[in-house]
Amino acid sequence: MRHLMSPLDFTVEELDHLMDLASDIEKNPKKYAHMCDGKKIATLFYEPSTRTRLSFETAMINLGGSVIGFASEDSSSASKGESVSDTIRVISCFADICAMRHPKEGAPLVASTVSKIPVINAGDGGHQHPTQTLTDLLTIRSMKGRLSDMTIGLCGDLKFGRTVHSLISALVRYTGIKFVLISPEELQIPDYIRDDVLRANHIEFEEVSRLEEAIPKLDILYMTRVQKERFFNEEDYVRMKDFYILDKAKLKLAKEDMYVLHPLPRVNEISVEVDNDPRAAYFNQVQYGVYARMALILTLLEVKVC
Ligand code: NCD
Repeated sequence: MRHLMSPLDFTVEELDHLMDLASDIEKNPKKYAHMCDGKKIATLFYEPSTRTRLSFETAMINLGGSVIGFASEDSSSASKGESVSDTIRVISCFADICAMRHPKEGAPLVASTVSKIPVINAGDGGHQHPTQTLTDLLTIRSMKGRLSDMTIGLCGDLKFGRTVHSLISALVRYTGIKFVLISPEELQIPDYIRDDVLRANHIEFEEVSRLEEAIPKLDILYMTRVQKERFFNEEDYVRMKDFYILDKAKLKLAKEDMYVLHPLPRVNEISVEVDNDPRAAYFNQVQYGVYARMALILTLLEVKVC
């Protein structure tokens, strides 16, 4: 039985296969409509979510299966003091697969060690968010036609943004990838990403604080929100929250074929006037997230696809 804790749990070949499957699902949704008849996914969300939880649920429903779960810690026995390990033992009796989001780094990993069903990490604290990465890779591959030979700019809260950590870890395995890391000094990527992921893999990267300076060289601009819930004090958050705002004027500096991605939710970091620009890909990205999660569920449940 396989779980998904980090994008590195899949080899590049397995990821390619998963993305091929997701692209086939996009083209032939009817073919997949009953592949999970009778199966259940449990969505165990100890932290707020709109897209990730509903996208998992939509993915399972699109495959003919059904959904159980909870959307907040308050509505689960966690509020009575039940441990994640006990909860997952219980859920293993009810469902065939589960997606768990938790504010504590490593909680889904703990669950996976006692679970009788595949566990998917749907975001653990400021650590990893592998299914957002599957979504991001599929979006980039679909929009640009490749996952190699690109300059990728990541902008905003690179310290606490788990989607950024997972995406960098996954992209360093493709050839010709360069990064421009755009953040205020206080929100730079954690040392383990800089040293153990980027430097260890001899990846070209630069760290800058001005978006205008970086934007002309990018093939992809990945914007992120400042992660309010992970700040220790409100003052720091307020100082940092509007540090970057991508608007039409800044987008004028970008290449004609540069795409803007964002895992969402957006707060102020992308002005709504950008939404109608053909380079704004963040709502397409949401749709790709459903295909990516459908492909993931089929893969982890080992459903035969012919
Ligand atoms: C992200 C997350 O939860 O990490 N959202 C998502 O899953 N699409 C990004 C964020 O909350 O800023």
